[in-house]
Amino acid sequence: MLESLTADPLRGWDQEHLWHPLTAHGALWADAGPLMLVEGHGATVIDASGRPYLDATGGLWCVNVGYGRQELVAAASDQMARLPFFPLTQSHPPAIRLARRLAELLPGTPRVFFTNSGSEANEVAFKVVRQYWRRRGQPERFKILGRDRAYHGSTLATLAAGGQAARRQDYGPLPTGFGQVAAPYCHRCPFQLTYPACDLRCADDFDRRIQHEGPETVAAVIVEPITAGGGVLVPPDDYLARVAAICRKYDVKLMVDEVVTGFGRVGAWFGHQERGPAVSPDVVTMAKGLASGYQPIGAAAFADELFHTIEGTFPGTLPPTGAGDHFRHINTYGGHPVATAVALANLDVLAREGLPEQSRARGARLLQELAQALAGHPSVRDIRGRGLLVGIELGTASGEPASAAALTRRVVADLRARGLLVGRTTDVGPDADNIVILAPPLVIAEDEVDRLVDGVAATLAATGSANM
Ligand SMILES: Cc1ncc(COP(=O)(O)O)c(C=O)c1O
Repeated sequence: MLESLTADPLRGWDQEHLWHPLTAHGALWADAGPLMLVEGHGATVIDASGRPYLDATGGLWCVNVGYGRQELVAAASDQMARLPFFPLTQSHPPAIRLARRLAELLPGTPRVFFTNSGSEANEVAFKVVRQYWRRRGQPERFKILGRDRAYHGSTLATLAAGGQAARRQDYGPLPTGFGQVAAPYCHRCPFQLTYPACDLRCADDFDRRIQHEGPETVAAVIVEPITAGGGVLVPPDDYLARVAAICRKYDVKLMVDEVVTGFGRVGAWFGHQERGPAVSPDVVTMAKGLASGYQPIGAAAFADELFHTIEGTFPGTLPPTGAGDHFRHINTYGGHPVATAVALANLDVLAREGLPEQSRARGARLLQELAQALAGHPSVRDIRGRGLLVGIELGTASGEPASAAALTRRVVADLRARGLLVGRTTDVGPDADNIVILAPPLVIAEDEVDRLVDGVAATLAATGSANM
């Protein structure tokens, strides 16, 4: 038993038994400890002492429809009573209906494989593209290129695909066949160039790297439409179309990771759909907003060509071996009946209430108000975002990454003390843990946006000025 067990047994048991993600437990408990949340309504969550918090983290950027949606609860309960489980080695109506709905939303990638998480969706995508190239008789095409600062998950292959140095530390050797190019990071351009004079040098970094690797060895490129956990890096509007064109030039598959940016988060159903028809991914991965966090579920959606090539049913591929081939991946809970039923109800809410459009409007208000309220603040280096995914990049007079990271931690803690929950970049890299991230439920009301901005301004006035 730890000495610090308190009168409340739950806090003691937490300290004794829970291993929290991405957490140094000494610092966690030396500080205020984790919040113990017990309830939520709309954009508000309530802790065990009854204190409300405006949740500008959206749980983990996923509770898009907000807390307390009884229609999602009813969907779960109905499905649980009817058929609580059956794997997708057979079939069931909610998974079929959800696959159909996703195919309607993403017509270029109409074949859906369900997973338990965003990490697994990306793993599945990597396996499928590698198998695809083998079936096309090009086994040497196995490399997957991503970008600096990107995050695609916590499994070994997704860590290898991502570009967050601190998260890989201690976990190697990672799988081979992954690499990164420059991030589209205009605020601190890796090439010290300025848009548009740069002519999208960061996008062309894919071209350079594909040539360097040998195009015949590159299977796919993976990008988030906006690098979310890496610090809300919003590329120029024409960036993604340039990347798509480079992929086409070398016949490299384009995978778009919409785990954060999907389902209205950035003001459209999917982030890449705003970048025009030239951006037509071969694979789209998703999770988070798919069921708004009410159930754990992810998915990878594929172009017909990938599915049919692996199955040996697509004209022009290798002749099928024996009875044809198949994708050798199984997960017990992928496409779980309850999770898919809840996701369907969630998509109904998103559509009926026009939440992607609302995210765009509220996000614009949030950005504009932040720009006004924080104008000229010496610790605020950049404010950026799209829809309800916003980053506030901080810096200190010393220019030291460690002091900027410490300031960012203090700002997050101070906002929590004011009843406002916000996120921050964590373990991204040596000079990247300096960005406060706002991603509230898409139902956040206008007056809640105002309250959030007031809180951030007051906190920075108090906490930030101590750093000058
Ligand atoms: C862009 C992106 N991809 C993938 C993932 C991994 O998703 P999960 O945590 O569901 O495994 C995340 C998680 O935050 C993410 O931000």
